[in-house]
Amino acid sequence: MHSSRRDFFKSLAGLSAMAALANVYGQEKNLRDDVEETSLILKDRRSSFNMKSYAAPAIPHIRVGYIGIGGRGTASIQRLSQFEGVEIKAIADCYEYPIERARQWFKSIDYPAPAEYYRDEESWRDMLERDDLDLIYVTTPQYLHAEMACAIMESGRHAACEVPLAYTLADCWKIVDTSERTRKYCAILENCCFDFFEALTINMALKGLFGELVYGEGAYIHYIDPELIFQEPMPPLNKKGGWYRGIVGVSVKGNRYPTHGFGPVCQAMRINAGDRPLFLTSVETADFTRQKIFERYLEQGSDYHKQFVGADFVGNMNTSLVKTQNGKVVKIQYSTDTPRPYSRIHMLSGTQGFAQKYPEPSRIYFDHSTPLSDEEMEAVKEEHTPELIKFLTENALKFGGHGGMDFICDYQLIDSLHNGLPLNISVYDGATWSAVTPLSLWSVTHGSQPIDFPDFTGGSWANNAPFDLSLRGGGTTVVVPKTPKA
Ligand SMILES: NC(=O)c1ccc[n+]([C@@H]2O[C@H](COP(=O)([O-])OP(=O)(O)OC[C@H]3O[C@@H](n4cnc5c(N)ncnc54)[C@H](O)[C@@H]3O)[C@@H](O)[C@H]2O)c1
Repeated sequence: MHSSRRDFFKSLAGLSAMAALANVYGQEKNLRDDVEETSLILKDRRSSFNMKSYAAPAIPHIRVGYIGIGGRGTASIQRLSQFEGVEIKAIADCYEYPIERARQWFKSIDYPAPAEYYRDEESWRDMLERDDLDLIYVTTPQYLHAEMACAIMESGRHAACEVPLAYTLADCWKIVDTSERTRKYCAILENCCFDFFEALTINMALKGLFGELVYGEGAYIHYIDPELIFQEPMPPLNKKGGWYRGIVGVSVKGNRYPTHGFGPVCQAMRINAGDRPLFLTSVETADFTRQKIFERYLEQGSDYHKQFVGADFVGNMNTSLVKTQNGKVVKIQYSTDTPRPYSRIHMLSGTQGFAQKYPEPSRIYFDHSTPLSDEEMEAVKEEHTPELIKFLTENALKFGGHGGMDFICDYQLIDSLHNGLPLNISVYDGATWSAVTPLSLWSVTHGSQPIDFPDFTGGSWANNAPFDLSLRGGGTTVVVPKTPKA
């Protein structure tokens, strides 16, 4: 390995440790330094291997492990235990109660009990010592994803990781580097790319039906009561979780959940497959809620909240703009604490058409004034819903998960591994979408100045193939519903 890269990866451990120990200001500063230092060191990095087109050897019988059996892990286990050619061999959490919930599920469907690891926060490492796993899901809180995903790939398994992959630029790079070096996948579980309207409009965009796409919008606008975020973390939140929700949650600015909105728009715009993000600029409103809640807690004599005295709380709405190499623009928004309807926006605007998912009902236009009628929408769906989605719709509705998109996301990953197909979503896509978090933090804390967007593909973006929602010679994976015993 080139010495500056070796030094860089040595410095990564230091960066994370410093960030964990820092106070509110130090914390934010270290995350900001992460962007500057990382960008400088890896400015001219070229890819060592192209994971986008890489087809790992087929695995007809996939032996699976899980780290994190909370909301997402539990739902994922319940879906995957109904796939043929998949065997869940081991599960890990840092508490027993999520493991007990999984135990009950496996028992209820007469599934062979997987091995259990739940001694403490490090038990998942024991699971990696096993020699009978091919794929490990990371369904833990997001501050743990990068460390776990890299350790999994280093141990010789593919990783399937919840969103986002990482929240520092250094960790985005580390994941890309580890994947290329080990030739193990790090699949981001970005289910929204497989939701019905997103998949339909991505397919239409890739066929050129909106003309040339010039602009897109995506978002994560999901109201979560700010009182909840600001409460003192109680067990079962572990120490690191408390730090993350407390300090990072209230005082580190930027878009902390970008992939649901950015991912599908990137797929439609051929980002990392003919185009690439060039730079990002981000603005954030002031805080109009947290300071007031914080003052009330202080008045009530809370010791926990004293750590936030003098903090510059995160704003209520973050808006980031990404300009691409080919001159296109994507707007990405993040807002969770002012009451408004849920929205990922998913808007695509081209020279010959327009699509927007939210507010529902979703609409498609081929002129400036009249949306397609309900009958026309049905005809468009019939003609342009991608092959993979059509093939899976019945089962998606049966097995569910956010209306079915979670099942489709599971299926396409497992089916790709069964058949030795390159992944639909590459490690470069996961890193690109996740990098909005550190880049927007940097921009917001530098007067909204633009910051260069890293090219995680190392130059291969120009020739990489776009998102492919055909069956690609797969579709052989069988799913058999298992009804839990009462
Ligand atoms: N794709 C989606 O639609 C979607 C939806 C919700 C959440 N998410 C993502 O999924 C991830 C998990 O979210 P969730 O809602 O399931 O959270 P959760 O808190 O319900 O579950 C997390 C689990 O991880 C366990 N855990 C924590 N530290 C651990 C450690 N050191 N070792 C082993 N286990 C540990 C916790 O005990 C818990 O059981 C998050 O990163 C979140 O961003 C994605």
